[in-house]
Amino acid sequence: MLIRPASKSDVPGILAIYNDIIATSTAVYRDDPVTLEDRLAWFRSRTHTGYPILVAADESTSTANITGFSTFGDFRTGSGYRFTAEHTVHVQSAHRGRGIGTQLLLALLPHAQRLNKRTLIGGIDAENTASIRFHERLGFERVAHLRQVGFKFDRWLDLILLQRHL
Ligand SMILES: CC(C)(COP(=O)(O)OP(=O)(O)OC[C@H]1O[C@@H](n2cnc3c(N)ncnc32)[C@H](O)[C@@H]1OP(=O)(O)O)[C@@H](O)C(=O)NCCC(=O)NCCS
Repeated sequence: MLIRPASKSDVPGILAIYNDIIATSTAVYRDDPVTLEDRLAWFRSRTHTGYPILVAADESTSTANITGFSTFGDFRTGSGYRFTAEHTVHVQSAHRGRGIGTQLLLALLPHAQRLNKRTLIGGIDAENTASIRFHERLGFERVAHLRQVGFKFDRWLDLILLQRHL
């Protein structure tokens, strides 16, 4: 499994993973699938600002099979937040629990340091205990519990913020 920067041709693979997570879980607080145009605009915007989008790719087939992706962007707008980034990592359901998420998250760290980020923050649904444990194992610490800030599948959702200093 190769971890490498995403290219435009990887965006459909990223889209498939993202839309499956939207449809089947509360890991992403969105109700509707996103379009390819939306993800292409996101890809252009992230790469334009110099932020990384990394993919895990199984290169054993002729067309690379994208099994996961990771990225970070601004935590909040405002120049005072410039040393803080918010990351995301998602792995295709059939490939979870094999270390791909760990590799994808660890591979973000040199990029964050290169861009002078001091801290990474992940926003995880409070019921997503697997992802919370995954982050804690990688040195993230729970720093906030935001109550009923999300709503999906007809219920309120709490968001946990986890933070790691670099
Ligand atoms: C959370 C996630 C990125 C972890 O990636 P991964 O490749 O499964 O994780 P790794 O194999 O590197 O690490 C395994 C850890 O992840 C956890 N895990 C999460 N989902 C799992 C699954 N379906 N099967 C096995 N382990 C899973 C395990 O608890 C394991 O921790 P443990 O060894 O302490 O038990 C991935 O499961 C995922 O994409 N989940 C759905 C979307 C999501 O929650 N994204 C994070 C929001 S930012």
